[in-house]
Amino acid sequence: MLTVDQLDALRSTLQSWRRAGERIAFVPTMGNLHAGHHSLIALARERAERVVASVFVNPTQFGPNEDFGRYPRTPQADADGLTAAGCDLLWLPSVETMYPYGADNTVQVRVPRVTETLEGAHRPGHFDGVATVVARLFNQVQPDVAVFGRKDFQQLAVIRYMVADLAFPIEIVAAPTRREADGLAMSSRNQYLSAEERPQAAQIHQVLQAMREAVQAGQAHPQVEADATQRLTAAGFAVDYAVVRRTDLTLPETGSGQGADARVALIAARLGRTRLIDNLEFAV
Ligand code: PAF
Repeated sequence: MLTVDQLDALRSTLQSWRRAGERIAFVPTMGNLHAGHHSLIALARERAERVVASVFVNPTQFGPNEDFGRYPRTPQADADGLTAAGCDLLWLPSVETMYPYGADNTVQVRVPRVTETLEGAHRPGHFDGVATVVARLFNQVQPDVAVFGRKDFQQLAVIRYMVADLAFPIEIVAAPTRREADGLAMSSRNQYLSAEERPQAAQIHQVLQAMREAVQAGQAHPQVEADATQRLTAAGFAVDYAVVRRTDLTLPETGSGQGADARVALIAARLGRTRLIDNLEFAV
C-alpha cells in the first residue's frame, strides 16, 4: 500500500491509474480503524480496481466541548489494517493541506433540511464540518465510488444530498453496520467505555430491536419513543434521542409516497463520558 501526504503525489498516482482505465473507490475515515472500517474497504474492493482510504481527524466537525483532542489516533495499526484489507493507497492530508486558509477561514458546504434534526440539533455545526471535509476529499481523490457506513445514518443522508445537489459524479455506496457479538455497533468511540459500561452499551441495540417490534405490532410512535427513552434512562444512559422516522428522516406520519413502508429507529445516548449512536432500519 502506498502512503501519500502531498496533494501533487496523490494526484499523479490517481492520474496514472485513471489513464490505465482503472476505477477508483474511496473510503474516507478518521482513523482508529476497526473491523467495521475494514468491511468498507472490502466493499470498495468489489466496486473498483483501486481502493483509496483517507485518515483525517477533521477538526471542523467537532464541537468545542467534544472529543477532538482525545479522539484515538493509531496510525501504525491503521496502516497495517488497511494493507491487510487490500487498500491500495492511504491518503494522509495534514490540516494545512485540507484547510490551506485555516480551518476557520474555509469555504463551507452547508447541507439544508436533513441536517436540522437529530445529530444536527444536538451537535450544532457538526454536519457543516462533515459536508465541508467530504466535499474537499471528493475533490482531492475524485473517486468513481465512495463507501460510507450505515451506522452514521444521518451522515449518509447528508452526503447523498450533497452529492446530488452539487452534482458530484460519484456513486455513494452504503455499507451495513458491523456489530460485536452482543449487538453493540462497532465504533472507535467504544474504547472510551469502562469495563463496567461496555456490557451495558449493548442495551442500545436491544432497545432498537424492541422499538422495531413495537412499531411492527402497531404501537403508536410517541409511545414507542417514550418507552425506549425510559428503558435507556433506567439502564443508566442520558438519552439525546430515541425516535422512529421514515428513512428520509421525516416524521412517520408524513403520509404516503416513496418510502412510506420503511422506517428507521435511531438512538443517541451517553453512557458516562461516551456518546453512542446507532440505528435499525425495518419495514412496516
Ligand atoms: O464518518 C467519519 O468517519 C467522518 O465523519 C468522515 C466521513 C470521514 C468525515 O470526516
